[in-house]
Amino acid sequence: MQCTRRVLVRSLGRRPLSTPSLRPDFVEILGERYATDPITNVTPSILSKVPIRLHTQPSHPLNTLRTLIESNFPDFSHLSSFSPVVSPFKNFDELSFPKDHPGRSLTDSYYVNKDLMLRTHTSAHEVEVFREGQTQWLLTADVYRRDEIDGSHYPVFHQMEGARIFEATTQGMKEVEEDNFRLERDLARSNIVIDDIPNLSATNPVQDVHDPVHSELVARNLKLSLNTLMLRLFGGASSKENPLRVRWIEAYFPFTSPSFEVEVFFNGKWLEILGCGVVNQATLDTAGVQGQIGWAFGLGLERIAMVLFGIPDIRLFWSQDQRFLSQFSQGAITTFKSYSKYPACFKDVSFWLPQATNLHENDFCDLVRDAAGDLVEDVKKLDDFVHPKTNRQSLCYRINYRSMDRSLSNEEVNDIQKQVIEKLKTQFGVEIR
Ligand code: PHE
Repeated sequence: MQCTRRVLVRSLGRRPLSTPSLRPDFVEILGERYATDPITNVTPSILSKVPIRLHTQPSHPLNTLRTLIESNFPDFSHLSSFSPVVSPFKNFDELSFPKDHPGRSLTDSYYVNKDLMLRTHTSAHEVEVFREGQTQWLLTADVYRRDEIDGSHYPVFHQMEGARIFEATTQGMKEVEEDNFRLERDLARSNIVIDDIPNLSATNPVQDVHDPVHSELVARNLKLSLNTLMLRLFGGASSKENPLRVRWIEAYFPFTSPSFEVEVFFNGKWLEILGCGVVNQATLDTAGVQGQIGWAFGLGLERIAMVLFGIPDIRLFWSQDQRFLSQFSQGAITTFKSYSKYPACFKDVSFWLPQATNLHENDFCDLVRDAAGDLVEDVKKLDDFVHPKTNRQSLCYRINYRSMDRSLSNEEVNDIQKQVIEKLKTQFGVEIR
């Protein structure tokens, strides 16, 4: 999650495209041209994903999952056409992210230039949707984060944001109570066991501006709505003897309080599903919404789709192969049958970095993706040391190439590896060992 799994790391080194001679004057995104500058770190491989919008492709598992979630909130507005290009202000500041939040760094996020970035989460649109006057809405979108390469991380993924606000009046709270009563009654009849925590506590506090009674009721409504959603998504096989298990965990997000995470026990494991909380009043104030109190949640679609459809590698969502695509039909959750696992091919690369240069792992991964596209399955750092005399840093990475659709020839892999080495030399000035 944006706010819990980030470690403060900053690259001092050069970034892809930031070397003036290698940087194009502009990049084009969804038909718009944007001037580049030394901050630009979006790569061709990332930009090629922007128009695809998997969550709107007919029969795609991510689309089916989106509609399934939407069906749990039939009275909500269902939004899905917001551009991924946003200002850092909108992605972070409007949501009360501190100035030194690691998510803002160039190693964690993709910047188009110093004024614009690719959204890192769907929460980036909270203010504008509330400003439109929407009171209950779901928003689905592609989001972008720089990350390592493995079977469950991909720099583009899809999130859904959901939010609902109520009049902060006696009448408004009566409606919340009625809704809570209805949801509670339905859940009591279902095969679900909920491991709950208090709605408010000293470590997960009510906001100063909120009446604690209102905040309690809204947090309760949030929990009941999401427990109902978990039952819809994961409760298919639940029974009296084998109920669905859901647990609530205290969390922290800059733009909600109290805040929670939800986990579901599925296929023998606890899965982290979503983050949520009572919306910071500052967010609603910025949106010009007065006298309301509400909740919001954000969930990642890939992680859920991987377990529901049995999809073993996150790259498969991007596959154009009919053996993948033809297995799915709109609205149906079916188990993916792997058509074959093709052989992996490992290549190591060891190099010296120029003095006082720092290569962040995410820089390396973007460089590999630009050469290999989705033919790279996994990247691992094998070795990292600084020579005691020259003070130069030596790095060794192992790249695991594997196609999901076919066997790769030796020549093809060698060719890609050559490109990786070429890029390392031109973009980062390394000396191959
Ligand atoms: N935007 C958060 C994330 O990406 C999730 C979230 C959404 C949390 C809404 C609280 C409220 O991790």
